[in-house]
Amino acid sequence: MIKETLEKIEQISEKTLSAIKESVDLDAINDVRVKILGKKGELTAVLKTMGKLSADERPVIGAKANEVREAVERAISEQTAKLKSLHYEARIKSEAIDVTLPGKRMRSGRPHPMSIVLNDLKEIFRSMGYTVVAGPEIEETRYVFDMLNTFEGHPARDESDTFYISDDVVLRTQTSSVQIRTMLENKPPIAIISPGRVFRRDEFDATHSPVFNQCEALVVDKNITFADLKGTLETFMKRLYGDSVKLRFRPHNFPYTEPSAEVDLSCFKCNGQTPDSGYCGFCKNEGWVEMLGAGVVHPQVLRNCGIDPDVYSGFAFGMGLERITMMRYEIDDLRHLYENDIRFLKQF
Ligand code: DAH
Repeated sequence: MIKETLEKIEQISEKTLSAIKESVDLDAINDVRVKILGKKGELTAVLKTMGKLSADERPVIGAKANEVREAVERAISEQTAKLKSLHYEARIKSEAIDVTLPGKRMRSGRPHPMSIVLNDLKEIFRSMGYTVVAGPEIEETRYVFDMLNTFEGHPARDESDTFYISDDVVLRTQTSSVQIRTMLENKPPIAIISPGRVFRRDEFDATHSPVFNQCEALVVDKNITFADLKGTLETFMKRLYGDSVKLRFRPHNFPYTEPSAEVDLSCFKCNGQTPDSGYCGFCKNEGWVEMLGAGVVHPQVLRNCGIDPDVYSGFAFGMGLERITMMRYEIDDLRHLYENDIRFLKQF
C-alpha cells in the first residue's frame, strides 16, 4: 500500500513539475496549482487516503507529500518569475524607439504683427521716459467727451458713431479718455502712452472696423510746446520706420488741442514717386499717408483736470495701431489683421 502511494505521489510530482515548466502564462500556472494542490486537487486526494495507512506509514507519506508540495511551489515561483521577465523583455522590444528616425517638426506660434509693433512702440516710448498706462474700454461720457471739451451736440457724440451703453456710459471711441483719467490722478510732470481698444459704429471693410486699436500719448510739464510735439513724433517715427521717413503736419481741429494737426508720413511704398503701374494703392498717389492726430493740450482741458494752464502746458497725440502696423509691413487690407489666417501670420 505505501509503495503504491509513494509511486502515485512521485508520478503526480513529475507530471506537475513538467506542466509548470511548460506553462506559457500565469493563468496556466494557476490552473496547474488548483488541479494539484487545490481542495479537489490530485495531491490533496492522495493525502485524503492517508487514513487507511498505519501509524508508522503515515509520517513517511506526510514527509513525501510536503517535499512534493515545496517542490511544486518552488517551481511555480520560478516559472512565474521567468514568464514575467520574458513578458517584460517583449514589452521593451515592442516599445523600443528608433532614435535615428527623423523627428516630427513642432509647429511654433509667432507674435501677431500688431503685437510686434505694439511692443516696439512701447519700447521706444519707455526709452524716452514714458510710462505705459491702461484705461477702461467701457467709459463714462465725461471722460470720453465732456472733459475733453467735446460738448453735447458735437458730431463725435452722435449715436450713429458711438455705441451707447446708457446716456452717460459708452464704449470709448478714442483712447483720449485716458488723458483725463491720468491728469485727474497725477500731478505734472506727466509722460504716458496708453494703447488699447476703441469702438465705433463703422462697417467692416478694408480700412474700417467697429473695433480697432489706438495709442494715446500725453506729456504735461512746464514749457512744453508744439516744437516738443514735433521733435517727439519725428524721433518716434524714425525709430519705428527708419531714418528716411518724412513727416508732414497739416492744420486740423480737435476740441481738446489748440493748435491741432493731422500728421502724415511719406508713403513707404512709392515714396511719392508714382510707380510704373501708374497707381500706388497705399497712398492713392498722394505720396503721404495720414497717421495720427495731435496738438497742444487745450488750456480748458488742463483746467478741467485741476492743472493750472498758466504754469503747465502739454502736448498729446493719438494714433491708430492698425494703420501703423499696415504701414510697417505694407499690408493693404485691415481685415488680414483680424482673420488670423495662418498663411498670413506665418510671414512675420
Ligand atoms: N482722438 C483722436 C482720434 O481718435 C486722435 C487724437 C487727436 C488724439 C489729437 C489726441 C490729440 O490726443 O491731441 O482720432
